[in-house]
Amino acid sequence: MADNTYTRFKDISISERILNTVFLLTIGLGYLAALANMYYTHQGLDGKAGLSVEDVVISYYGSSKQSRLGTAVKGIMASNLKIKSDQDVILEWIHAGADEEGYNQNIAPILNRDCIMCHTPSINPSLPNLTNYTGVSEVSHAGGATIPTLIRISHIHLFGIAFILFFIGKIFLLCEINIYVKRVAMVVPFAAMLLDVKVDPIVQTNNVLI
Ligand code: HEC
Repeated sequence: MADNTYTRFKDISISERILNTVFLLTIGLGYLAALANMYYTHQGLDGKAGLSVEDVVISYYGSSKQSRLGTAVKGIMASNLKIKSDQDVILEWIHAGADEEGYNQNIAPILNRDCIMCHTPSINPSLPNLTNYTGVSEVSHAGGATIPTLIRISHIHLFGIAFILFFIGKIFLLCEINIYVKRVAMVVPFAAMLLDVKVDPIVQTNNVLI
């Protein structure tokens, strides 16, 4: 019935077809370039060769699961601890939020005894400064993005991606397929984008304490 009053591919002018074609070709190239960029820029960040989901998380979100201090005392710096159980003391302090009071009470004595002979700016300026709370605090909190950062990135992405989805959606509208499939297909990309923005802060909040 009314369906054939809508504009379809066969109804549009050659000029509009050309415009659609060059737009899709360009945005398709952009997509391939984005994939290649993702590979070259982010692969290997999780310590393993090749691109993984974890690499992308580390790039865009930060190393969310573990603070640098936590990773170090469990790994490459573990052998510097003279008392093995101090590892748990440090990890528990990180887990509880790495506050200054706990630092003064339990953590500073350990770091002053085992770590600052190397981790002092005047000795090794390139290493994390473990001589005071400010320096230690920089490596004792998980490196995930902050809420203001997520909001800044989200506002740019919501504007930018909405345009891309709208223009591609307009072209997709012109094809002849089942109208129910079409209606759902119109909403899915927008819903996925909103879900992505909404999930990020939740992941962030959970990770602060890990
Ligand atoms: C003998 C010198 C020395 C001592 C002692 C030492 N470190 Fe280190 N630390 C280093 C060096 C060198 C690096 C850089 C290693 C690298 O990047 O491969 C480093 C790196 C680190 C890092 C940064 C890791 C990263 O994410 O880049 C942390 C955190 C750290 N050490 C914590 C500690 C703690 C905690 C102690 C005490 C238990 C300690 N270190 C004792 C030499 C030392």
